[in-house]
Order: sequence, then C-alpha cells, then structure tokens
Amino acid sequence: MAKQALILYYSQFGTTAKLASQIHKLTDADILRIQVADKTFPDDMAATDKVYKEQRTSGQLPKIVTKLPKLDYYDAILVGGPVWDGQISSPIMQLLKQLQGYSGVVAPFSTGWSDTGNYQQDFVAHAGKLQVAPGYHVLSHATPHFTVPTLAAWLRKL
Ligand SMILES: Cc1cc2nc3c(=O)[nH]c(=O)nc-3n(C[C@H](O)[C@H](O)[C@H](O)COP(=O)(O)O)c2cc1C
Repeated sequence: MAKQALILYYSQFGTTAKLASQIHKLTDADILRIQVADKTFPDDMAATDKVYKEQRTSGQLPKIVTKLPKLDYYDAILVGGPVWDGQISSPIMQLLKQLQGYSGVVAPFSTGWSDTGNYQQDFVAHAGKLQVAPGYHVLSHATPHFTVPTLAAWLRKL
C-alpha cells in the first residue's frame, strides 16, 4: 500500500466504522471519522432515506463539521461510507467536493446490507478529477462479506 495513507469515513450506525478500524489495524494509517451536524439525519433508515432523496434532488448536501487535516501529506486517502440506495451517501458526496484538488489516490470502501448497487460508479461520478482506485465493497447479509484476506489483498494493490 501507499506509504502515507489516511482513512476518512462516514458511518451512521457503526458498521462502516468497524470496517474502518479493521483497515486501521492492518495499515496503521491515520484515521478520522467524518461527522455531520447533529440531527442532520433521523435515527432510522426509512426516515434517513427520505432526507437523503431530498438532498440528492436539491443538491443541498449536509455540512461536514469535522476539520480535515492537511491532505497533501498523504499519498492515498481511503474513503469509507455506507451504501445508500445503491449509491454513495450524501456526507460522502460532500466529502468528495471537499477533496477536490487532492492529487493522490482516492480508494473507496463501503458497507451495505445486501446490495452494493452502483456504489463504485456513483463514487467515480462524484469524484471530479480525483484519481479513484477500485474499491473494497462488502455486505453484511449477502456476499461479498468482509474477510481479513480479501481486505489485505485489496490494500496490497493500492
Ligand atoms: C438511507 C439508507 C439507504 C440504504 N440503502 C442500501 C442499499 O441500497 N443497499 C444495501 O445493501 N444497504 C443499504 N442500506 C443499509 C446500509 O448500507 C448498511 O446497513 C450499512 O452497513 C450501514 O453502515 P453504517 O452503520 O456505517 O451507517 C441503506 C441504509 C440507509 C440508512
């Protein structure tokens, strides 16, 4: 893997956070959880989906309240988030806007329930000029599941 990597992730319910900490364990990369303002999203999935759909339609993305570190120190940024409607979540849409201008590799990872949908394509579609690597996408109730060997193999290719 790249020499200096940063893990940036958004996690609403903690599943992506667990994957991010597995990546952290294997790489010892710096890690930062992206937060949005309190009450941006309701506490259940269906209500969150309603807010998300409105955000995608209006283009009014949630503000990220986490201060990002100086990015040019890193050769790669591993960007993690949940699958929402087969796409990237709105905090990740906003994060990708904020990463514009970064010249290293950006590698997505995601967690979903049973269908990753078009996550990777949607990530690339919102990445502007960022250099996007093939991602690591896992599911909790379908395959591919997370395993240490598949994660390690993905990390080796970065
Ligand atoms: C608004 C919304 C939409 C979702 N859409 C999908 C989906 O299209 N496919 C899927 O497999 N899981 C979907 N899920 C489930 C989450 O992707 C899954 O539970 C994920 O691991 C949650 O990550 P987190 O705990 O880091 O927030 C959705 C969840 C939410 C809240």
